[in-house]
Amino acid sequence: MTVDTPAPATATTTAPAGPALRVVNLSTVFRTRTAEVKAVRSVSFEVEPGETLVLLGESGSGKSVTARSIMRLHNSRAKIEGEVTLSGESVLDLDEKSMRALRGGRVAMVPQDPSAALDPLRRVGKQITEVLLLHKQASSKKDAKAQAVELLRLVGIPDPQRAFRSYPHELSGGMRQRVVIAIGISCDPAVIIADEPTTALDVTVQAQILDLFAELQKRLSTALLMVTHDVLVAADVADVVAVMYAGSIVETGPAREVLENPRHPHTKALLGALPRHDTARGELESIPGAPPIAGQDFAGCSFASRCGFAQESCVEHAPPLLQVGSRHLAACPVLNPAAAVGDPLSARPAEVA
Ligand SMILES: Nc1ncnc2c1ncn2[C@@H]1O[C@H](COP(=O)(O)OP(=O)(O)OP(=O)(O)O)[C@@H](O)[C@H]1O
Ligand SMILES: [Mg+2]
Repeated sequence: MTVDTPAPATATTTAPAGPALRVVNLSTVFRTRTAEVKAVRSVSFEVEPGETLVLLGESGSGKSVTARSIMRLHNSRAKIEGEVTLSGESVLDLDEKSMRALRGGRVAMVPQDPSAALDPLRRVGKQITEVLLLHKQASSKKDAKAQAVELLRLVGIPDPQRAFRSYPHELSGGMRQRVVIAIGISCDPAVIIADEPTTALDVTVQAQILDLFAELQKRLSTALLMVTHDVLVAADVADVVAVMYAGSIVETGPAREVLENPRHPHTKALLGALPRHDTARGELESIPGAPPIAGQDFAGCSFASRCGFAQESCVEHAPPLLQVGSRHLAACPVLNPAAAVGDPLSARPAEVA
């Protein structure tokens, strides 16, 4: 689809210099009654304005916990460590009030299920104008309404006036997700975090929503962090891919390079497990074996027990990310014996850097 209407007054194309989102050594541990679950282990990445980074991985690999840790959306049993900066400002030590202002303001979350994000009992327009007024993006109710209709037009809703007056159940799933995205971009966020935003939608609508993200993001210069288990979604939208396994990034780099020339056995297995004709689009055939049990610690490489290339040393030492291309890193010394330790923050396509 094409977005050819003017951007709303709240949108800007001038983004601050430097990464919109910078995550350094992020770790999240949940204390449960029986164990400590290390859900995210020292994860680092950067997303520039206008860039899309996809966190790709199997179920349970820590993608959602990473996304939610950035927004500090866990309860008090979660211990989050590391650095998260948004347009240069550190967020992990902000108080809860400042965090609330940030969520839905400078960072927008687009969840998997649009129905859960919308109040079924209130009209769509009201839900958008409320956010605009709460974050002081609109000076009056009239201004908020005009902006809301413009936002609905911007996200490709054919009759925005009508959608404004509708209840969520009167719209299709795809249109509801467009409304959620309109709310997300209403406060001109520097970063959009979208966790499996198309999984609940059927295939044609999925493609339209992915196109919409691409259009909006280039137009508004927003950084997009997208979480998916679907290799085809990653191939569609990612500038940079970070492959997660058992809480760590095991491979990262320009999307094309990682997906066409994977240098970690886990990524190879993921891609080897690309769709069969009898599975849904992008569904993965499972890799033999199982990931480490949550809450059980391990010393070496998290993938060693399922890896056809594993050697004795792999179960003894956790391998660091190694430089396997100018901006491509993989945490496997067996496949990359000559590679030196790399900096995960350098993984990005040259044209975007
Ligand atoms: N609140 C919690 N308390 C304890 N453990 C948790 C909590 N939330 C997540 N976990 C654990 O953290 C690990 C990572 O979970 P996460 O939800 O990030 O996976 P995911 O990669 O998003 O998977 P999926 O594709 O299924 O959404 C899992 O082992 C999960 O059981
Ligand atoms: Mg998830």
